[in-house]
Amino acid sequence: MLNNPIIGARTNILCVIGHPIEHSMSPVMHNAALNDLSLDYIYLAFDIPPNDLEKAILGFKKSNMKGINVTIPHKEAIIHYLDELDPLSKQIGAVNTIKNEGGVLLGRNTDALGAKQALLDGGFKIEGKKALILGAGGAARAISFALSEKMGEIFISNRTEEKAIKLAKELQDKTKIKATGKDMSEKTLRSLAYSVDILINTTPIGMYPKIDISPISKDLLNENLFIFDIIYNPLQTRLLKDAKKIGSKTLNGLDMFVNQGAIAFEWWTGKKPNVKLMKEIIIEELGNK
Ligand SMILES: NC(=O)c1ccc[n+]([C@@H]2O[C@H](COP(=O)([O-])OP(=O)(O)OC[C@H]3O[C@@H](n4cnc5c(N)ncnc54)[C@H](OP(=O)(O)O)[C@@H]3O)[C@@H](O)[C@H]2O)c1
Repeated sequence: MLNNPIIGARTNILCVIGHPIEHSMSPVMHNAALNDLSLDYIYLAFDIPPNDLEKAILGFKKSNMKGINVTIPHKEAIIHYLDELDPLSKQIGAVNTIKNEGGVLLGRNTDALGAKQALLDGGFKIEGKKALILGAGGAARAISFALSEKMGEIFISNRTEEKAIKLAKELQDKTKIKATGKDMSEKTLRSLAYSVDILINTTPIGMYPKIDISPISKDLLNENLFIFDIIYNPLQTRLLKDAKKIGSKTLNGLDMFVNQGAIAFEWWTGKKPNVKLMKEIIIEELGNK
């Protein structure tokens, strides 16, 4: 039940755009937080195919759309239509949050900040550590750049090796971190798993509905390895279950997701959202699926 009495002509609109979009948890999470503070806002979801991105974003720019979250597949392409980027999203080359300031579109990457905050809150000390990141897509880019300031060394392991090598080179060129790109074969993972402090899965392997698979064999895990799986559906992936059996510290993708949403919410509305409520509503939604 909404606390906001009326959606009226002055109601501010927020949204998420992606393709597809019907599985997004952002509307339910943001509307719960907006209602909790009785803010005159509504958060909607729009399915925008890539060919319609330009028309959609130019329309939003001229409207009372105050903020936009951007998800797969638009996080990189959207940059062409924005007026300003903050330094981190410029480095990453991807944006997941836009603020519309009277027709001027500002872009940020709150995935990066959300992941870093989740790791710190999860008890992982980043300074000088070595990371193995599985995947070299948008989330891997955001996380590797966010961690590059404090991390000691980053290995990126990806199904398409060239993408891992390209991201590692960009990291080395744009930041001071030592980074290496590799393939994602068992042999490569075996050679790296024992030499790093943290393993971060940014591939969709293990995500609903194919929940019985893991991106890395259980034999390659060890109790000293911190395991961060950024998937949040399910909350306990096969990888995290395997890691827990071995005694490793683990973190799922829920805090990253809620953090990126909370940073965006505060940027748009100027108010701090109820993060506990945002988390609870996602857990409830996942339970209903
Ligand atoms: N918790 C959060 O807040 C949060 C935020 C963002 C994303 N995510 C999750 O992170 C995952 C990735 O998102 P993204 O935006 O980075 O996607 P993306 O840009 O499409 O990248 C996906 C990456 O995973 C690899 N991959 C895909 N399927 C694979 C498979 N079957 N085997 C091996 N590698 C595979 C791809 O490798 P190739 O280069 O070889 O194609 C690519 O490196 C999704 O599950 C998404 O839900 C979570």
